[in-house]
Amino acid sequence: MWKFWLCFGAVFLSCSGYTWPLPDQLSAAQQRELKELQQDVETEIEELCCQNELKRCCVEKKKSLAQRNMEEWEGLIDSLKELKSTPDEEEAIKWLEEYNEELRQRNVRNAEANWAQATNITDENAAKVVEVTLEVTKWSLKKMEEAKKFDTSGFSDDVKRQFKMITTSGSLSDEDKQRQLAEIGTELEKIYSTGTVCQADGTCLKLDPDLEGIIAKSRDYDRLTWAWLSWRDAVGPPMKDKYAQWVALLNEGAQENGFADKGVLWRGAYEMPDGKLEEMVDAVWEQVKPLYTQLHAYVRRKLSEKYGADKVSTTGHIPAHLFGNMWAQQWNNIYDIVVPFPDQPEIDVSDTMVEQGYDALRMFKTAEEFFKSIGLRPMPQTFWDKSMLTRPDDREVVCHGSAWDFYHLPGDTDVRIKMCTKVNQEDLYVIHHEMGHIEYFLTYEDQKTLYRGGANPGFHEAVGDTIALSVNTPGHLKKIGLLQNVGHNQDFEINELLKMALAKVAFLPFGLMIDKWRWRVFSGDITPDNYNTGWWNLRMKYQGIKPPVERTNKDFDPGAKYHIPSGTPYIRYFFSFIAQFQFHQALCKEAGHDGPLHKCDIYESKAAGTKLKNMLSMGESRPWPEAMKAITGQEKLDPSAILKYFEPLEKWLREQNKDEKLGWD
Ligand SMILES: *[C@@H]1O[C@H](CO)[C@@H](O)[C@H](O)[C@H]1NC(C)=O
Ligand SMILES: [Zn+2]
Repeated sequence: MWKFWLCFGAVFLSCSGYTWPLPDQLSAAQQRELKELQQDVETEIEELCCQNELKRCCVEKKKSLAQRNMEEWEGLIDSLKELKSTPDEEEAIKWLEEYNEELRQRNVRNAEANWAQATNITDENAAKVVEVTLEVTKWSLKKMEEAKKFDTSGFSDDVKRQFKMITTSGSLSDEDKQRQLAEIGTELEKIYSTGTVCQADGTCLKLDPDLEGIIAKSRDYDRLTWAWLSWRDAVGPPMKDKYAQWVALLNEGAQENGFADKGVLWRGAYEMPDGKLEEMVDAVWEQVKPLYTQLHAYVRRKLSEKYGADKVSTTGHIPAHLFGNMWAQQWNNIYDIVVPFPDQPEIDVSDTMVEQGYDALRMFKTAEEFFKSIGLRPMPQTFWDKSMLTRPDDREVVCHGSAWDFYHLPGDTDVRIKMCTKVNQEDLYVIHHEMGHIEYFLTYEDQKTLYRGGANPGFHEAVGDTIALSVNTPGHLKKIGLLQNVGHNQDFEINELLKMALAKVAFLPFGLMIDKWRWRVFSGDITPDNYNTGWWNLRMKYQGIKPPVERTNKDFDPGAKYHIPSGTPYIRYFFSFIAQFQFHQALCKEAGHDGPLHKCDIYESKAAGTKLKNMLSMGESRPWPEAMKAITGQEKLDPSAILKYFEPLEKWLREQNKDEKLGWD
């Protein structure tokens, strides 16, 4: 800090070389003020030291002069602190430090309780989740009141940001209502996770793997209808009234805190003025819709050929149960029905994985290897010790895959994945997805607790998927021994791109409509009497699909999708499915990839890894456009990368569909 004050005579009158101490906990405005003072003091010292001494500077003299001015400088800082209510900001910073540490410790307990319940559903564990949730709510409310006492207007941006996060809340003040809300939440998730369907012969089926397996593999129209319908009938109706109560309570909490409804709070995670997020995703959807419409028309034709024109018309909506996926959200399981060039080498590696004796652990190690190859961190030992990688058979669990941060301090890391892994290519992708969350946790673990989050929720969802875009290239699958033959012709490429489109493009309208439904449920546009009709109106409009049998408002089909009962916002996935192609494109450029985007594999590129790491390490400390800029150089959600990726396929589909009636209205 202390540097000697040296003047070298008339020729060099510069007094640089001296570093003025600038306390960094001052606000930006105060820092500017001090800098101005610094200029003044420097000029003064310069005159004293150099000009009055007639260019013969005595080093000792300079030192003492500097020392004296230093004292003056510090005096100035002190008086400024007093004058400008700086004590408040210092106090605020201290308060925040304690807040962040206590929040961290509470997050640890919260995660522990939720983990216990998610990996072992019992009434006792559910009750603990409710208690911890109530404790958290109570504490946050208390802290919010404390936080509101600070006048943050003159504080630095970073301090302001933290206060904003703390004081943005939708918590109910009434303790009975808090409890009701927590209990309904746990109950809804339990109905979903323990839902079973029993057959005439007395055997009972679970969603994962039984019913999902039927939908994925059966090609019997009636069997598919049965599985589709039974799941919805099993879990939907018992949830419906509870869901309406849950929405009412969430809205009440939001309104108590000055928000129009809970949807406003959810959208707040994107730090955009209300209305702008929906505007943004709508604009992106308009740009990708032509590609989706081409895919839709092509798949509809193939399904019509497979099941008959009486079952699937070639002009209207497609029945929702024929896509190989319980929610018709991704269609890759019917690749065999729609494959453009069946004579080309196989690109699904599921069978090969089984033949080569893959198990869950080996699949996770395979994923970890990729992350390590670009310079990201290996999973800590506790990850392997504590994760739940397969479905246990001695208890009920929430099978829906998830990644967990236990908010430990660096050096004592505890991060875990919970999933019911099956040996197939789809789950290999899911593992990369979940491990992407873990890498994000690991990379921002030394941020303040409040900033241990994604730049926005969509960023968090996009990390693993970005990596999986490299992993799932035939080139990479060959490299790791899962594919023997890779075609090098256009037909093979069309197969490859179509398979990818079934997962990525097919998802887009689904990713968009889920929260369009919930935003309208929260705002009251869709009332409980119209939950199901409102749901299907959006499914029909955006996805161009319809229920295979007539549905009424007695049904509650939204409840059959995990994120509805679990209360997880969904627009993050739409964001992610666009952003991951932007990330992929940026990382491929960094890796020096040359050629079409869909062939890029960033394996072993430390340059790409560093670029990614730099963005991940920011956590939630800055608004997302800055994180977007750090990795892609642009600040927007931009569909041009996904469109570029699928350009050859879109061209091919247009040719195939030239005689089709596109769309479904
Ligand atoms: C599941 O939770 C119950 C408490 O409800 C506990 O007694 C039991 O040991 C737990 N089982 C496992 C395998 O963790
Ligand atoms: Zn995820």
